[in-house]
This record gives sequence, structure tokens and C-alpha cells, in this order.
Amino acid sequence: MSSQETSGQIRILDWQIAKTLISKLRDRSLPTHQFRNCAKRLSNLLWEFVLSSEPSLHIKSEKHTPSGTKYDHFDMAKDKVAIVSVLRAAEAMMQDSILYYEEDFEFVKMVVQRGENGHNFFPLPIPANIKDKLVFIADCMLATGGSFKIVIDKLMEYGVKIENIRLVNIFASKEGLDFIMKTYPGIILYGISINEDMDSKKYLEPGVGDFGDRFFNTPAKH
Ligand code: PRP
Ligand code: URA
Repeated sequence: MSSQETSGQIRILDWQIAKTLISKLRDRSLPTHQFRNCAKRLSNLLWEFVLSSEPSLHIKSEKHTPSGTKYDHFDMAKDKVAIVSVLRAAEAMMQDSILYYEEDFEFVKMVVQRGENGHNFFPLPIPANIKDKLVFIADCMLATGGSFKIVIDKLMEYGVKIENIRLVNIFASKEGLDFIMKTYPGIILYGISINEDMDSKKYLEPGVGDFGDRFFNTPAKH
């Protein structure tokens, strides 16, 4: 079964400029500062796509222009939204992002690290009001799906309903995506590049290598 045929909803940003930025990121000769710039541009495109695709977040009111003419004014329902970033790599989708500077959303950090013996979760404070929010979990990479699963399960422990969770991702493997969609039927994922393969160490192929290491310019572990 292909990823798109599972019961979840996969919403793909398929603009050509997104494909161009994705292919730049794959290039191993791309210098760090350009990797960071491409990742940030791509993340900003993705966030605008995500917010545009959620009608419940857009509030209409009536305001007046300087000449006194009435118009329909649209704004974001900022109190409804929490953005969870899975450290480290998802910080690439936060730092300098339009989301952070333009909208007063709630920002929550969660730390998950993949290791040779599975995934490790390091607790950080989670606000009690998160159960009342529409929660967007951001992670650049979806390989086995283990990191997203830990974060989704933790949020559900805190009372967040699965129908109020959205996944926001840049690169996904077909296998990991199918695992998430089967584990959480109906969950909505926003993505750009899906259906990648994985190598024996569960890194994406063609992939970008270790996203966090390339973004933060730390020595590669892979
Ligand atoms: C990477 C990436 C994702 C995770 C995806 O994190 O940032 O969080 O792998 O893989 P999975 O779907 O198999 O869980 P990593 O643990 O390498 O940490 P980093 O972000 O600090 O590089
Ligand atoms: N995490 C990464 O950074 N890259 C992969 O290919 C898989 C997980």
C-alpha cells in the first residue's frame, strides 16, 4: 500500500520552488550557511501552507481603512495554537521563522534523540493548557517514525486529542509515514518530500544525511 492510500491525510506542498530547495539541501557540497538559508526558506513556505490549510485558525472581523471604509479583516486565532518542535533538528524550522516573529503562538520544546538502542526522550516542561490547543508537531525528518510517535504519545498523555494534532515535516520515508498513519488513523501530516527509502542505519535515501548535524555544523555521527 502506498503512503497516500493509508487512512491518514497527507497534505503535500508541491510547489516547484520547494522541490528546488529540497534538491539544494541534498547536495553534500552545499556550505553550512546555504544549508541553513535553504532550510529556513523551505520552512517558511511550509508554515504558510500549513496555516493557510487550517480554516478554523482564521478569524474574520470588521475594521476600517484610514479613509473610513469598512472591510473584512482577517487575523490568526493565536490563542488556539501550540507549536511543538522536536529538538534538535526541528529548530531549523523555528529559528528566524515567520511563525515565531509574526504570530504570538505558544512554542513548546521536546527533546528526542535516536540512539543505537532506540529512542531516548528527555522531559522538558509541557504547559497544562496544551490540551485545549491545535498542536502542530514540527520535525524535519521522519525516518522510522519513532520520534513523532514518542511526542504524539506524550501529548496525548497530557490530554491533547489526536484530532487536534498535526504533523509538520520536510523529509519522510515511505515506511515511517505508513507506520505513523497506521498507528494514528486519520492524523493529518503536512509534508514536502515523501516516499524516500532508508539505508541499513535508518537514514533516508537519497536523503540529506543528518539534518541536525548539517544545520548546526556539528561533526557527523552517521
Ligand atoms: C533526527 C531527526 C528526527 C529523527 C527522525 O533526530 O531530527 O527527530 O531523527 O528519525 P525517526 O523517525 O527514526 O525517529 P536525531 O535523534 O538524530 O537528533 P537531532 O535532531 O539532534 O539530529
Ligand atoms: N534523521 C536525520 O537527520 N536524517 C535521516 O536521514 C534520518 C533521521
